[in-house]
Amino acid sequence: MNLISFSAENIAKTFNRRKIFNDISFTMKEFNSLAITGRNGSGKSTLLKILAGVLSPTKGEMNLVIEGRVIKKEEYFVHLGLVSPYLQLYDEFTGWENLDFFRKVRGLDTADEYLAELLSRVNLSDRKNDFVRTYSSGMKQRLKYAFALIHRPVILLLDEPTSNLDDEGIATVYQIMEEQKKSGILIVATNDKEDITMCEYVIDLNIQTLKKGEK
Ligand SMILES: Nc1ncnc2c1ncn2[C@@H]1O[C@H](COP(=O)(O)OP(=O)(O)OP(=O)(O)O)[C@@H](O)[C@H]1O
Ligand SMILES: [Mg+2]
Repeated sequence: MNLISFSAENIAKTFNRRKIFNDISFTMKEFNSLAITGRNGSGKSTLLKILAGVLSPTKGEMNLVIEGRVIKKEEYFVHLGLVSPYLQLYDEFTGWENLDFFRKVRGLDTADEYLAELLSRVNLSDRKNDFVRTYSSGMKQRLKYAFALIHRPVILLLDEPTSNLDDEGIATVYQIMEEQKKSGILIVATNDKEDITMCEYVIDLNIQTLKKGEK
């Protein structure tokens, strides 16, 4: 039996009669990775939001099965982690408080030690008690990674994973991506060549086809 199966069947999205994409289909199993590419405005971020369950498709279905159990749409958030420019952090909370708040709202029993470990991984330990409004954009991006990983998601969805990051931040993100490929499914919306080569499959939204990556 497969441990994880995440499939999209003929997903389409239309905004105010403007057709963004049509008939996106794929099935990802555990340890698979998928890059979603396409021109600016081709719908990469939109597709990622649909996959994350935060936006409804105009047409089509998604199906998430974990260890034989079909996961309801309302429960996707338990299994998915999303890092996106659209994600808002709480500016008037510190980095630590943001993570702590998320943990409490979600009713997670994540230990303080794990939160501290995540902050250390993204190199924010020494700024964890500063308000997020005082962070640089790269620091906010790093905090989003800690945020997305708190509940050890089975599927990690990343929108422009390396935007705003310095070399060290990019190296950390690549490490997170590699680890995700060993523990679950990784889906990345990007046009960055290096991000794309890290993925096994590629969907180009301009031609709407799924193909095996070139590595
Ligand atoms: N809430 C919305 N209402 C109306 N149109 C929208 C909305 N969100 C996105 N769009 C439109 O959908 C299209 C796809 O946008 P999206 O942000 O998904 O593209 P993208 O591929 O992520 O682009 P980029 O490479 O610039 O990040 C664009 O034409 C955009 O204007
Ligand atoms: Mg985008």
